[in-house]
Amino acid sequence: MNKPNVFISRQLPDIARALLSEAVFKCQIWDHEIPMPQNALIEHCQGMDALLCTAIDKIDAALYDACPDLKIISTFAVGYDNIDLAGAGKAGIRIGHTPGVLTEATAEIAFGLMVAVARHFLDAHRQIPEGSWKYFVPTRNLGQDLQRKTLGILGLGAIGFEMARRCKAVYDMQIIYHNRGINEEAEKTLGARKVTFEELLKQSDVLSVHASLNAQTKEIFNQGAFSQMKEEAIFINTARGGLHCEQDLIEALASGSIWGAGLDVTNPEPMHADNPLLKMPRVIVLPHIGSSTVFTRDEMARIAAQNIIHFFTTGKLLHEVETKKAH
Ligand code: DGY
Repeated sequence: MNKPNVFISRQLPDIARALLSEAVFKCQIWDHEIPMPQNALIEHCQGMDALLCTAIDKIDAALYDACPDLKIISTFAVGYDNIDLAGAGKAGIRIGHTPGVLTEATAEIAFGLMVAVARHFLDAHRQIPEGSWKYFVPTRNLGQDLQRKTLGILGLGAIGFEMARRCKAVYDMQIIYHNRGINEEAEKTLGARKVTFEELLKQSDVLSVHASLNAQTKEIFNQGAFSQMKEEAIFINTARGGLHCEQDLIEALASGSIWGAGLDVTNPEPMHADNPLLKMPRVIVLPHIGSSTVFTRDEMARIAAQNIIHFFTTGKLLHEVETKKAH
């Protein structure tokens, strides 16, 4: 077999390219800091056997139609809402992703956002350069206690489980969750209780989102949802920005319908620099850094490359996304 051609759509940790080159793949890379425009992605993938992409590349029918040689697309991400799975299935293209390795890093960001919002880390930090830390004010910067509060999780999979485990261990929080199925391990080891979506909204002191984005979950956190939450509630989203309606979140925070929010994902991304959320008290926004540790990003690059290498050597991927059910 000729050496397969692989296109890599972003600068990734070196290990991805090193592994592919060692396994005698011919690699081309979009070697720029800025993301690839869609037409450039399509152009560069022509004649390629494999594409190693990221979560910000739009992988759709236009790409499949223009690149009939593509056999596998491996995304440097666990999420794959940017990929038209049904179209990939029809085009006979296999899809790989990188689950597992970013679970702890992402749960850590959710946990950190929860504590930072509950205890005003960012608001209090800003007061110092503003010159408003003049003396001790007993009634200022009063946060929310987290001990024995109720953590609600939408989407209790691996990352949600790690968030829940941390909250149970550190704050002895009660865990409730809403999923399609039952998470037996969480029920057994953390005493987690499955509830309806409405109960999740009404009972959570902290509501942390770990669901995947799809037609059923798109903007599930909207005005109707926020209005059912507690006034002291903290909303955390480290999954996908599209799960919340940003305007409704702004209004819920401004009207006091919920207390605070911690976001690692925004809707849309990137968030515009003049977004009102960035100036609101009790709100912390991060630029989608859930998986951003040296170890995690190296592991994601390794798995994304190995999905491609395994496919060409054994016909199997390390972690494959099912495309057939998406038809
Ligand atoms: C993922 O892996 O899905 C992260 O959100 C990075 O996009």
